[in-house]
Parts: sequence; C-alpha cells; structure tokens
Amino acid sequence: MTSGTERAPFTPLWESTRITEAIAAGAIHNVLCESARLELAAVTELPARVAGALLNPKPLDICMPVLDAVLAAQYFELFQALRLPQDMAVYEPCVGASCPVILAAEAHGGGRANYLSINLNRRLREQLRAKLTHVTMPVRIVEDNAQEALLHLSANSIDVACFHHAVNDILQTAVSEPRGMDTTDVDWFPNERQMIEWLAEDANAGCLEHRGKPELMKIVTDAVLLVRPGGYLVFDHFNWCRFIGVDWFPWELFYNLIPMTRQWIAESGLPVKETRLDGMDTQWWLVLRKSV
Ligand SMILES: C[S@@+](CC[C@H](N)C(=O)[O-])C[C@H]1O[C@@H](n2cnc3c(N)ncnc32)[C@H](O)[C@@H]1O
Repeated sequence: MTSGTERAPFTPLWESTRITEAIAAGAIHNVLCESARLELAAVTELPARVAGALLNPKPLDICMPVLDAVLAAQYFELFQALRLPQDMAVYEPCVGASCPVILAAEAHGGGRANYLSINLNRRLREQLRAKLTHVTMPVRIVEDNAQEALLHLSANSIDVACFHHAVNDILQTAVSEPRGMDTTDVDWFPNERQMIEWLAEDANAGCLEHRGKPELMKIVTDAVLLVRPGGYLVFDHFNWCRFIGVDWFPWELFYNLIPMTRQWIAESGLPVKETRLDGMDTQWWLVLRKSV
C-alpha cells in the first residue's frame, strides 16, 4: 500500500446539521421504509441524538433508529465525496441484517445502483429481506463464505466494496467455526458474546496470525481483485461505551480493528492507496483506492 493524502469534494464529511437534515427530510429520509420513518418521527431532540450517533465510541443513550439512519447518511456522503457513478456496483461482505450501505446506495443511485452481499447467517438474511421490500435497485444476497467471492463476482466489476462493521464479523466467524459453532444457523446475537470471547482468547494467545488474519486477508484480497481500477474499498468499525471496562470484552482489540486492518493491508503489498477525507476519523474508517 502506498501512503499519501488525497483531498476530495463534499468535505468535511458528516457535519451534524447536514446529517440531521438528510435523515429528517432529505436523501436518506426518502429511502427509509415507512416503519423507520415513523420511528424517527417519534424521536425527540433529533439534532442531539444525531450528534451522539456520530460519536465514537457510541454513547450509552444511543437511539438505534437514529444510529441506523446516521450510518446510511455517512455512507451516502462518502459515496458522493468519492464521486462514485450513480449506476455503481456495490459489494458488501457480511451484511447480516444491517441496511445502511444498501440505503446509501439506493439514495446515491436513485435506484440505478446495484448491490450484492455475500453472507453466511440465514436468520439475519431473512430479517434483512423484510427491511428491503421498498428498495428499487437490484439487491442480491448470496449465501456463502465471502472467501468464495470470486465464484459469484467478476474481476474489476465493482465500484465500491464496503466492509461495514465487518472486520469483527469475519474474525469472529473464523475463530468460532473451527470450535464447532455453525454460524450460518445460530441466532447471531445471543451467541455473539461466545464468539467474541473466543476471539479474545486467540488474540491474547497471539494466534490471530494463523486464524483470523488469513480469512480476513483472503476476503480483502479478493475484494481488491473485484474492484475496478480507480474504485474503492471502505472499512468502518465502531465501539459502544457500554463495553468499556467489561471484563470479557477485548476493548483494545476492538478499538484498534481498523488500524490493525490498515497495517495488515499495508504489509500485504496489495495495489491500493489510502484516501483520507476531511471529517473522517482514521481510527474508525479506512478508505482505499485501487491503483489505476
Ligand atoms: C451481526 S452481522 C453484522 C452485519 C453488519 N456487518 C453490521 O455490523 O452491521 C454478522 C454477519 O456477518 C456474516 N459473516 C461473518 N463472516 C463471514 C464470512 N466469512 N462470509 C460471509 N459472511 C460472514 C455472518 O454470517 C453474519 O450474517
């Protein structure tokens, strides 16, 4: 990875007032489903809630409908800042039941973008489907390991690959499957503490190099192949204040997931260069441009 700084338009990103407008009446509001709009309409002190949702780590009084919409608005502004085409192809490994990237793509493309996720857990996929009945752009959710992405997508066919809060998902799956947990079938959230404890155990034992890193780097390497020259890979992560001081939670590891990923990719020699944008905290976000 070559280091360097590139400036982009539409920055600084994620100004709180602009994000509030986007979710209350603007581009993101327009792509929310009816129930999400109703939930947002019921929120009091929206500007303060948005300001809280933009903080890292996320505060104790976080409002989930606001956080979901804010994340979509963040990805929307990022797509704009990167000047991605409206008819862009988006790849997201490990979508689970989470729709910020999908809603941002729908808003950015006005229905002309297309989207594909590769995702293992079936229950979360069904929850996601129920949230997307109003989305007009083509959306495909492939049930497979994202390590098999090259079976489902062509090289140089993707404008942006979005690893939305997905680094931990990939690491957790990599350490849990060999211990006998079928992560395709489990009820994810009741089992997530166990996955994180195993991940902490492996990280403390210095084992991530052999289990965790290879799986993540395979998925990242394939994503670089799939992205067209000049296209982007985006990684984000965030933590919750409620986990500070919790004994089983590997705070340091999770605090540093993006810097760790940045370092692993830099050491890999993949043909990407980091794009830094005003307003983006590099502790929690990493944007890479594939070399032309
Ligand atoms: C809790 S969801 C997270 C969704 C989203 N990334 C977020 O954080 O909002 C985790 C999802 O990642 C999927 N996942 C983890 N590792 C994977 C892999 N190697 N290939 C495909 N899907 C994976 C799981 O199956 C699950 O559906």
